[in-house]
Amino acid sequence: MTKLIQNINEMKQTIKTLKQQNKKIGFVPTMGYLHKGHLSLVECSKKKNDITVVSIFVNPTQFGENEDFDKYPRDLERDLKLCEEAGVDYVFAPKVYEIYPEGYSTYVIMETLTDKLCGKYRPGHFKGVLTVVNKLFNIVQPDNAYFGEKDYQQLIIIKKMVEDLNMNVNVVGCPIIREEDGLAMSSRNKYLSEEERKSALSLSKALFLAKELFEKGETNPQKIKEEMRKLILSYPLVKEIQYIEIVDPKTLEEKQKVEKGDRVLLAVFVGDTRLIDNIEL
Ligand code: PAF
Repeated sequence: MTKLIQNINEMKQTIKTLKQQNKKIGFVPTMGYLHKGHLSLVECSKKKNDITVVSIFVNPTQFGENEDFDKYPRDLERDLKLCEEAGVDYVFAPKVYEIYPEGYSTYVIMETLTDKLCGKYRPGHFKGVLTVVNKLFNIVQPDNAYFGEKDYQQLIIIKKMVEDLNMNVNVVGCPIIREEDGLAMSSRNKYLSEEERKSALSLSKALFLAKELFEKGETNPQKIKEEMRKLILSYPLVKEIQYIEIVDPKTLEEKQKVEKGDRVLLAVFVGDTRLIDNIEL
C-alpha cells in the first residue's frame, strides 16, 4: 500500500523511524505525471533498497518566467495509482508553500557545468533544480537516489553537487526509456498534437544517425552535427533547433574529435514544445 505524505515534518518523522529500523531508502524525485521512464527508476530503486520514496513536486524555481510551470501536467490521483501498482512505499507530495515558505532565500548555485547546454537557454534552471534536490535529499535522507539519463546534464550536476557538498547519497543514473518508435518518454510529450508527435521523432532519429555515423568511422563533430541538423529540419513541425552538441560525458565540454563514450545532446522546439534527448556514442 502506497502512503501519501504531504507534510515535511511527517516525512522526516517517517524517515527517522525507518532509519531506526535500519531500512535502506531509495528515492525517486519527480515532478509527477509519471510515465514508464519514472517507473523504471522505481524498479531500479526497489531492487536495491528496502523502502522506495517517490516525490512529486512541480518545482517553481526551476521554471523561467515564460516557461510552462502553470500548464505543466499534474494528476496526483493518477500518479498515486501508478505508484501503488509499482509497489512504491511512500509518495511525498508537498505543497509549494511548504517547500518555499514566505521569505525563503537560500539557493544552491554551481559555478561550472550549469552555464552550458540547457543552462545556456534556461538561466536559473539548474539553480532551482539543485536547490530543490538538496532540500528533498535533506528531508528524505536517501541512501540511493535515482535520476534518468534523459536529463543528462541534470544527472551530471546533481552528482557534482553531492560530491562537492559531501552529501551522503549515492546518485544512480538510469537509462532513457523510449517509446517503440524511439521517442524518449517525457511528461512534456503530452503537449504534442498528433502531427507534432511525428515531428518529435526527429530528435531520436538524429541521435541514432549520429551513432551510426560515428560507428562507421566519422569523428568530426561538425560533420555529424550537420547531418543531424539536415535530418531534423526535414520534419515539417520542427520550429527551431536550440542546440546540438557532442560533449565529454563528465565535463560536458564540446569535443573537437569525437571518441567512444562521448555524449550527443540536443534540444529542439517541435511547435511550441521544447524537447530534449541524448545518446552515448
Ligand atoms: O527531473 C525532474 O523531474 C526534476 O528536475 C527534479 C529532479 C524532480 C527536480 O525538480
